[in-house]
Order: sequence, then C-alpha cells, then structure tokens
Amino acid sequence: MRILGVETSCDETAVAVVEDGKRELAYVVATSKDFHLATGGIVPEVAARKQLDFMLPVLEQLNSQVDIRTVDAIAVTQGPGLAGSLIVGIETAKSLAFALDLPLVPVNHLVAHFYANFLTYEIIPEKHFPALVLVVSGGHTDLVLLKDHGDLIHLGSTLDDAAGEAFDKTARLLGLAPYLGGVELSKRASLCGVNRLKNKLPRPLMNQDNLDFSFSGLKTAAKRIIQMGEFTVEEVARDFEDAVVDVLVSKTLKAQAQTQAKSLLLGGGVTANRTLRMRLTAEFDALGVPIFFPELRLCGDNASNVATSAYYNYYPKPPATVNPDPSMSIVY
Ligand code: KG4
Ligand code: ZN
Repeated sequence: MRILGVETSCDETAVAVVEDGKRELAYVVATSKDFHLATGGIVPEVAARKQLDFMLPVLEQLNSQVDIRTVDAIAVTQGPGLAGSLIVGIETAKSLAFALDLPLVPVNHLVAHFYANFLTYEIIPEKHFPALVLVVSGGHTDLVLLKDHGDLIHLGSTLDDAAGEAFDKTARLLGLAPYLGGVELSKRASLCGVNRLKNKLPRPLMNQDNLDFSFSGLKTAAKRIIQMGEFTVEEVARDFEDAVVDVLVSKTLKAQAQTQAKSLLLGGGVTANRTLRMRLTAEFDALGVPIFFPELRLCGDNASNVATSAYYNYYPKPPATVNPDPSMSIVY
C-alpha cells in the first residue's frame, strides 16, 4: 500500500510516498523560511503564495523518483495550520485524488506529528497501547491518550502560548533569531556554565493538579529579566529551557500516573530538544515504560508523517472507510 502524503500547514511544501507506513520511497520539500526570516516572522499571505509557487515543482520532482500513478491513496494535512497554506495542499490533494481516481485521506496535523514514530519503530498495539502522547510544536502543547489507531482521548493542552511559541518569542527577545529560534536558544543554553539565574524563572502550573500548560507568563518573566540586563544570554536561555522542560516532564509524569499507559510517544518540532529528550528518557526508563521520539529529521512538519498516519488510521481497513468527501475543508 503506497500513500502519497501532502503537507502544507505552514512554511513548507512537502510531498512524500510511503509504502506500508514504513518505507519512505521518495521525499521532496521546499521551504519559504528565508522569506519569513527577512520579515522577522511568518506573513501568512506570503507563506500561501510560496506554497503555490512550490507545489507543482515538488510534485514533479517526486514523480521523477516514484511514478505517482503507482500510489494507492492520497493523504493531506487537513489542519490545524495556516488557512492559506492548507488550502494549497488540500486542493492539490483533491485534484490528484480526482485525476488518479484514488481515495483521499484527511490527516490531522498533530496526529501526523506523533505517527512519525511508527515510520521508524515497531510499535505494537497489543504491547504499547494505550500510549500516552505528548505533542509539543510551535502551535500546540497537548497530552493525549492513544487507546487505539483512531481512538484518542484528549487529556490537556496549553491555555495560552505553545511551548515552541514561547521558545521562539524568547529567542527573539534574546536577539538570537527573528523566526523559529528554538534551536538557537537551546544551543546557547548548552553553553551556560554556572547559572546565577537557576530556578528563578517561573514553572507555570507545574504544581497544579491538572494536565494543562501555560507558557505566556514564563516568556513575560524572561522578558523582564532580559530588560534588567543582569544576566547573560546563556544564563537566561539555560533557565528558560529548564523551566519549559521541568513543566513538560512534570505534567507528562502526572498523566502517566493517571493513565498507567504502556508507552510514551512524542511528536512535534520541540521534541528535537536535547534536554527534553534526555530528561523524559531518564524518567520513563526509571518507570520501565518504553518511550519513542521521532528521528530528528521527522520531528517537524513533514509529508512522510502524513502518509504514515493515513496508513495506520485507514488501512488495512477497506478504502470504503476513507472519507472521499470532495468538499473536504480545513480543520482549525
Ligand atoms: O512541529 P513544528 O515543526 O511546527 C509546528 O507545527 O508548529 O514545530 C516548530 C517549533 C518551533 O517553535 C521551533 O522553534 C521548535 O519547534 N523547535 C525547537 C527545537 N527545534 C525546533 N524548540 C526547542 N528546541 C529545539 N531543539
Ligand atoms: Zn507541526
């Protein structure tokens, strides 16, 4: 079963063909990141126009690697994401499904993030489900229980900023990067020696008995500290990253204690963060609960995750269960 995945939720135009949810036969991506770096943040209109510019060239390149007439279904990110960008992917996927007479599978962006793990690892429902899921991206911070493919229970979310958004905004306040500065902030944190700011930034909601998150106050606290000018970039970056990771780890452990899940699956751009990976691995190893992180290249938005998610959620059930609705539209 070959699935062609299309992902256009933000600034990347990505297409892939994945066989049986495991083998990536081809992958092509173009990004408009440089344009957003120049404006110090994403301009949705520009992102959407670049999606239009890039879509046909990436599809042509994909087709030169794998004949797209050999695929069995088309999968596409339905949302959440930027409306203008999503529309380009959805309309392209609909056209491909119509022209090739194939089923069209809508995929939730956040679900695609943690299905990255299924591409790489042998995750067995009988052994690993129910699985606890933590999605941490630029737009979302969610804890979910995956009881079975397609059977999810929402446990908690951020009440304001997402973890990645807080990383990006703080990186900008620190003058590290105008756009998507999470990686740069993390690099600077790793250069910190003795930290005079250790544990001084807030760990919002950490000790509350719920599975919600809140990161906007942390970013504001970091802003005040930066304005005081008493601490180095490395010190602020170190305690900021530790604060985010402390909260993420603590809430995930709380969710694990409540659900007694058989494994932990991670997904989203922030799961590339080294400190988060190390801390969660240590905690879940100690509990004896298997933990799965996407490969670094699969942490962010990409089309292979979309195709893989479609495979596990719709196949090998008969294609009749697939939503072929030609009026399929965006999910926010
Ligand atoms: O999942 P993703 O690629 O896009 C969204 O769906 O939002 O996530 C992007 C987010 C950005 O906020 C980016 O700064 C953050 O992931 N990110 C990181 C790291 N790598 C990417 N944050 C912290 N540490 C990293 N190493
Ligand atoms: Zn994403």
